[in-house]
Amino acid sequence: MRSKIVAGNWKMNNDANASKTLANELVAGLKDKSLQNTRVVVAPTFVNLTAVHEVVSGSVVEVAAQNMHQAKSGAFTGEISAEMLTSIGLKSVILGHSERREYFGETDALLAEKVTAALANGLEVIFCFGELLEDRKSENHFAVVESQISNALFSLDAGAWKQLVLAYEPVWAIGTGETATADQAQEMHAFIRKIVADKYDAALAEEVSILYGGSCKPGNAKEIFSKEDVDGGLIGGAALQAADFIAIIEAIQ
Ligand code: PGA
Repeated sequence: MRSKIVAGNWKMNNDANASKTLANELVAGLKDKSLQNTRVVVAPTFVNLTAVHEVVSGSVVEVAAQNMHQAKSGAFTGEISAEMLTSIGLKSVILGHSERREYFGETDALLAEKVTAALANGLEVIFCFGELLEDRKSENHFAVVESQISNALFSLDAGAWKQLVLAYEPVWAIGTGETATADQAQEMHAFIRKIVADKYDAALAEEVSILYGGSCKPGNAKEIFSKEDVDGGLIGGAALQAADFIAIIEAIQ
């Protein structure tokens, strides 16, 4: 059975103290909850990965990086490699977030390289994609999502998909307060599962967790998560308050 996952993307928020405080609050708040087939992941900034990883060790909370470089090592000032992430005990990395695509020019081709490097190092990849508002208005959203997934992921062999989590994040819903309706999310998630099934096979597609991201909050999470093909959420703003993030985790139970 595919896992449910609630992942918090802290983006460029929280200094060292705030990161540790939030991690401690999550550990304490989740300690006595029995989570059914649900994983909880947080993605702090690079400089706070080690500290947060230490705080959550032994708890249900896992830690992911928000990005990484595709090369093994070398003269790439300011960058972090997959090996560096695994060397501090990390098991997951977010790749392809729309902010990386938009502000840092990450293309499908670059992301294909990053995904390959992450998988080769044994990292799980939470792979993000999603259409712009103009794509949805022009009814190109399915085509855009299909090309983002196929360009970055469809040259992988079937075995690699065990290490992949997909995150559909319509760009128009990220940080805007505007959410896709539960039906819009379900429609896209079912489409995604179908294209994966068509490319590989139905059994593989059934096992892939597909998360929704974009203004997911305690007030709307339950309805979105109630949909058959929505296996959890990638949460931005609402992941910065322990109470909100925990309420979202509870909404998936
Ligand atoms: P948001 O961000 O929840 O603040 O809209 C989601 C994301 O970017 O992953």
